[in-house]
This record gives sequence, C-alpha cells and structure tokens, in this order.
Amino acid sequence: MNTRSVRAAEPSPGSRLALAALPGSVRTARRHVRELLRRWALPHLADTAELVVSELSTNAVRATGLATDSPDYGELSGGLPAICVGLHLAGGYAVIEVWDASDRPPHRTDAGLDDEGGRGLLLVETCAAQWGYRPQVTGGKVVWAKLSVTPC
Ligand SMILES: Nc1ncnc2c1ncn2[C@@H]1O[C@H](COP(=O)(O)OP(=O)(O)O)[C@@H](O)[C@H]1O
Ligand SMILES: [Mg+2]
Repeated sequence: MNTRSVRAAEPSPGSRLALAALPGSVRTARRHVRELLRRWALPHLADTAELVVSELSTNAVRATGLATDSPDYGELSGGLPAICVGLHLAGGYAVIEVWDASDRPPHRTDAGLDDEGGRGLLLVETCAAQWGYRPQVTGGKVVWAKLSVTPC
C-alpha cells in the first residue's frame, strides 16, 4: 500500500465526549475542544471553537441538566442527565455538535438592549459559517455549528 492509499484510508478525526449535564461540564467541554484542535494542528480555531462549544453546552445543560454542580442528594436519585460534545472535520469545516435529551429546538431570539441573556445563539451565528439542529430518532437533538478550517 503506498502513502497515498494509506492517507485515503485514514478516517477524518472525530471525537465524542459524554459529560454530566452540570454547569461545571461546560469548562470541560471548552478544554476538550481546545485540546483536540491542538492535536489536530488547528490551534487557530481554538478560541472560536471554545466560544461556540461554551454557548451550545451551556444551553444544553440549561435545557436538560441541573442548575448546580453540588445538588442535593435527592436531585441525583433519578439519575444524572448527560450531554454529549462532538467534534469532527468534514468538507473543510470543524463541526461542533452538542447533544442533549430535550426535544425542544433552540431558537435564536432578538435580545433587547436591556436583556441580560438571549445572545448566545447570535454569537454562534456570528462565529460559525453555519449552524442548525437535528432531532435524533433515539431521542433528544443535536445542535451543531461549522467553523471553516481555513484561516480568514
Ligand atoms: N439546547 C437547547 N435546548 C432547548 N432550547 C434551547 C437550546 N438552546 C437554546 N434554546 C432556546 O433558545 C433560546 C436562545 O438561546 P440563547 O441565544 O443561547 O440565549 P439564552 O441562553 O441566553 O437564553 C433559549 O432561551 C432557549 O429557549
Ligand atoms: Mg444560551
């Protein structure tokens, strides 16, 4: 097998990391994505990818998780909800995906001047070449954003 056929057979790098749906997991998601992009020799994407995964995983935790990293024991007895952070390369894009167990879709709002929240998806839209979501037949949904691998 020559070098070219070996290269062609290599799968595109990809990763999935399941995390507890807790506020503290957002930090882990950011670090994970930064580390992957460093390993994949795409460090120029790290700041933007961190921002995007931060917004998407914060939303996923808010939609399905616990409000605190130190819940009462009673809040844990039904099981700890999860989110899943994915990153892969496809067609010249780094694709960030965040799964959560809620079927409710994300919706970009037009935050007013005095509104404290409601700008996360606007930020994602500004940073990403494209973003969207897809329901999963097995339950929940994936919210995704594509970042161009080519530096601007
Ligand atoms: N993963 C999600 N699951 C369900 N609803 C979501 C999700 N992400 C976003 N949303 C909805 O979209 C709205 C806008 O999200 P965003 O722009 O991040 O603003 P904020 O999080 O500050 O409300 C959220 O308030 C929520 O209603
Ligand atoms: Mg948000």
